[in-house]
Amino acid sequence: MDAIATLRGKYLEQIGAAPDADALETVRLAALGKKGEISLKMRELGQMSAEERLIAGPALNALKTEVDAALKARKAALEDAALDARLKSEWLDVTLPGRPRPMGTIHPISQVMDELTAIFADMGFAVAEGPQIESDWYNFDALNIAPEHPSRQEMDTFYLHRAAGDNRPPHVLRTHTSPVQIRAMQAQGAPIRVIAPGRVYRMDMDQTHTPMFHQVEGLAIDRDISMAQLKWTLEEFCRAFFEVDEVELRFRASHFPFTEPSAEVDIRCSWEGGQLKIGEGKDWLEILGSGMVHPHVLRAGGINPDEWQGFAFGMGIDRIAMLKYGIPDLRAFFESDLRWLRHYGFTSLDQPSLAAGLSR
Ligand code: PHE
Repeated sequence: MDAIATLRGKYLEQIGAAPDADALETVRLAALGKKGEISLKMRELGQMSAEERLIAGPALNALKTEVDAALKARKAALEDAALDARLKSEWLDVTLPGRPRPMGTIHPISQVMDELTAIFADMGFAVAEGPQIESDWYNFDALNIAPEHPSRQEMDTFYLHRAAGDNRPPHVLRTHTSPVQIRAMQAQGAPIRVIAPGRVYRMDMDQTHTPMFHQVEGLAIDRDISMAQLKWTLEEFCRAFFEVDEVELRFRASHFPFTEPSAEVDIRCSWEGGQLKIGEGKDWLEILGSGMVHPHVLRAGGINPDEWQGFAFGMGIDRIAMLKYGIPDLRAFFESDLRWLRHYGFTSLDQPSLAAGLSR
């Protein structure tokens, strides 16, 4: 049975040499597939004499069984090798120390905005927004600031360039967050309770002024809102924000075109030993402007001043952030000095809350 011995030698060798599953399958088809060499040989059995078949039959069957077993063994070996290779390449040392990743911090201004938003939200104020590039109508006219009014100059306004022949209304970088009062009134009508934190711009630069800074506007309008509620709201806010039991606020008569009467508000503090303490001492620090919304302003916002009245305030966010966190120089806020940011920044786990400041 030379032919069978030849087939056996040939296929066992090919099986042993098959480098991968595809090659092995090619060998299997050549040997045992429908038109495979061994299969064809088995089909020839039918044409043999009984005697021939008696010898060739068992020999062919044995060959088929052997080749089949060799195929299976080789397949298993190839799979084992593949798994081994994968385990080796994907090996991971779980005892290695983690790779350090530089961690950012929350900027004190962002932190303070989150804090005051949480505190005012607890008092029922929603957040309103407006654009930083405003028409002069929203920034001035609607707020009862006449074109020749000196406060247009006082505010050191940045005007946007207009090409000759451009008839669009003049636009400015908003000089305060007060235009958001008008936008909120137009959008919601009365009653209304909103705060509007955001960026504002004035041409000014020294240790306590930067050309861009932050304010939070407050606006509450209802049928019987009074100055007393303004005072309570601001005191409640300061207690929560500065995390002290008692604060003392001083209302100084002042003037803003968009409020009547108007008051600037100072907070009692002390500077003993170069350390700022809120709520005690003999010094006063101005933190905001406020007043009862002027009837002209209500009307500009589409609200009838015979039916509704309210208070408004505008507070310097950078100022109260400096006070709360003992940051001496305003300009440092915007210099993006990493050492400063790491020192004064907050981790993202520092959640602002109203409860933190209220010990009642
Ligand atoms: N807009 C004023 C300012 O920027 C602050 C203010 C807001 C005063 C609302 C009264 C009422 O100085």
